[in-house]
Amino acid sequence: MDIAIIHGQNHKGSSYHVGRLLVDQIPGENEITEFFLPRDLNHFCLGCYRCIENDADCPWYEQKKAIVDAMERADLLVFTTPTYCMAPSASMKALFDLTFTMWMSHRPRGSMFRKKAVVISTSAGSPTTGALKGVAQNLFYWGVPEIYRYGTRVEAMNWESVKPKIKQKIEKATAKLAKKLGKNTPPRVGIKTRFMFFMMAGMQKANYNASPIEKEYWQHEGWLGKARPWKNA
Ligand SMILES: Cc1cc2nc3c(=O)[nH]c(=O)nc-3n(C[C@H](O)[C@H](O)[C@H](O)COP(=O)(O)O)c2cc1C
Repeated sequence: MDIAIIHGQNHKGSSYHVGRLLVDQIPGENEITEFFLPRDLNHFCLGCYRCIENDADCPWYEQKKAIVDAMERADLLVFTTPTYCMAPSASMKALFDLTFTMWMSHRPRGSMFRKKAVVISTSAGSPTTGALKGVAQNLFYWGVPEIYRYGTRVEAMNWESVKPKIKQKIEKATAKLAKKLGKNTPPRVGIKTRFMFFMMAGMQKANYNASPIEKEYWQHEGWLGKARPWKNA
């Protein structure tokens, strides 16, 4: 299985280790590509909207492309982020801002509809819900149909100080999820994804878009007709 891991932090703390624990327990021959943010994408969106007409016109296109290409190649996407102020890290959010044209409302990548994803977040003590949702919601709008969330309170500022009992609990939970993912079955495309896709196709048909380029893209993919991205090989 081809796996892309996107870490929303440069350091190898609890979120990194939980992500690696999961991936390293997935059975089979796995090809793993890892990115660390902001190391591998150290910019914020300027709001210039140049990407609406052409992704390559983004000033940070080359850095973004390396990450997006790896994600497109992957069967499984894994995102790790510490919970920062009840939300994902700013670097993780910057990645999503910088790839907003991949949302279903613009020019979604067909490959995203054929992947699974896991979102991982650790916090010191508060719920991780906000951080997990911040990432998972974005993935949903990219078209990823099967998204798992795993959040855990580690009661620590780094992995070394996490108590053995908490580490055992994490090992157990990640082993269970790794076993499931190791089956490498095609993702389930649920009603929510299908409905959102249908709504977005309707918007493009009605020319309710940010540029005519978007409608041309949907037409070219055949999505305004009968073609569906989750059915393509
Ligand atoms: C800027 C910042 C904001 C944080 N905000 C929260 C928070 O809202 N809730 C919480 O429980 N912990 C918070 N923490 C603690 C971290 O979420 C926690 O230590 C986490 O496990 C760190 O993950 P890491 O080791 O991968 O960096 C915050 C830490 C930092 C540095």
